[in-house]
Amino acid sequence: MNDKYTIAIVGATGAVGRTLIKLLEKSSLPIQELILLASSRSAGRKIDFLGNQLVVEETTDESFYGVDIAFFCAGGNVSKMYAHKAVESGAIVIDNSSYFRLEEDVPLIIPEVNPNALNNHKGIIANPNCSTIIMLMALKPLLNAANIKRVIFSTYQAVSGGGNQAISELEGQIRSYIEGENKEAKVLPVASADKHYQIAFNLLPQVDVFDEGYYTKEEWKMIKESHKILGTKEIGITGTCVRVPVFWCHAESLNIEFESKINREKAIELLEDFPGVKVLDKPEEQLYPMPLDFYNDDNVYVGRIREDNSLPNSLNIWVVGNQLRKGAATNALQIAELIVKKNLFVMDGINN
Ligand code: A2P
Repeated sequence: MNDKYTIAIVGATGAVGRTLIKLLEKSSLPIQELILLASSRSAGRKIDFLGNQLVVEETTDESFYGVDIAFFCAGGNVSKMYAHKAVESGAIVIDNSSYFRLEEDVPLIIPEVNPNALNNHKGIIANPNCSTIIMLMALKPLLNAANIKRVIFSTYQAVSGGGNQAISELEGQIRSYIEGENKEAKVLPVASADKHYQIAFNLLPQVDVFDEGYYTKEEWKMIKESHKILGTKEIGITGTCVRVPVFWCHAESLNIEFESKINREKAIELLEDFPGVKVLDKPEEQLYPMPLDFYNDDNVYVGRIREDNSLPNSLNIWVVGNQLRKGAATNALQIAELIVKKNLFVMDGINN
């Protein structure tokens, strides 16, 4: 394999794509060429990469010849349309959409949590849901010390998870509120849904469309993806996902029941030792993680760590992570770095 790689980003003009471009500028990944792809609407637009103006191209079946790694950040339909074409052209696909995540022969990877699942990939690797990544980064170090019986999550999810349009919608609604106007909601909670609700000064207890058992698809993603990544369905996982009027970082309140006791001190020790996790928990100084503080941060922060007063062997914790970074682009880039490090490139559809 080369020692420099041709990288493509599908969805380069989107919220995750643009974050990835910025991260690639600082990454140690040796880049031969960066190809920026989007829809025909953006063809011809220019985006700066390391001081060069790269021209965005329309994504087509032919876009992937000569590409070593293709990041897909354009939603499930685009992944469905082009991911296999990219693999047939010889690229490895790192897909940020939910389209392939639960397929048996598609590894679903958080590099700090299940790196070995990458070894037998068949060309497509899935990047987990943002809230799943942030939750598991906090659960895995604790799980290493005691089996988990049950987790109850409540999420506080930033609008960045809904892409550029959702970010603009929150900004527009805040501006028009201040100007005394009323701006109609058109994107959230779900762009394709019949009804839309104002996100500014509000909370939307719906992230993604409704699915089985009155849960939303986002809630099922957190449950099913966690089981796949942890390699067990024995852990009871349930909860509620809520969209909040915050721009960039997701927060999650987790109630965790273990088979044996982990006290606050032990939990702090375990979390502090885990790569990519930082503990920010000093109640006496009023220190805890807040979304506003981590706009440019790849770590997942944990605070408010305390024993559950109502149930033995249980903890309450508060987790905050940047949805566009560790929840999406950073995790995808780490997967690419791991592929290079382990030399897991594909030739003719079979790992070499
Ligand atoms: P475009 O800007 O041309 O619409 P976000 O998640 O922020 O909403 O961004 C979605 C990304 O997916 C954008 O880069 C968007 O490009 C891209 N995209 C949407 N539809 C397609 C398509 N049919 N082919 C390729 N990229 C697409």
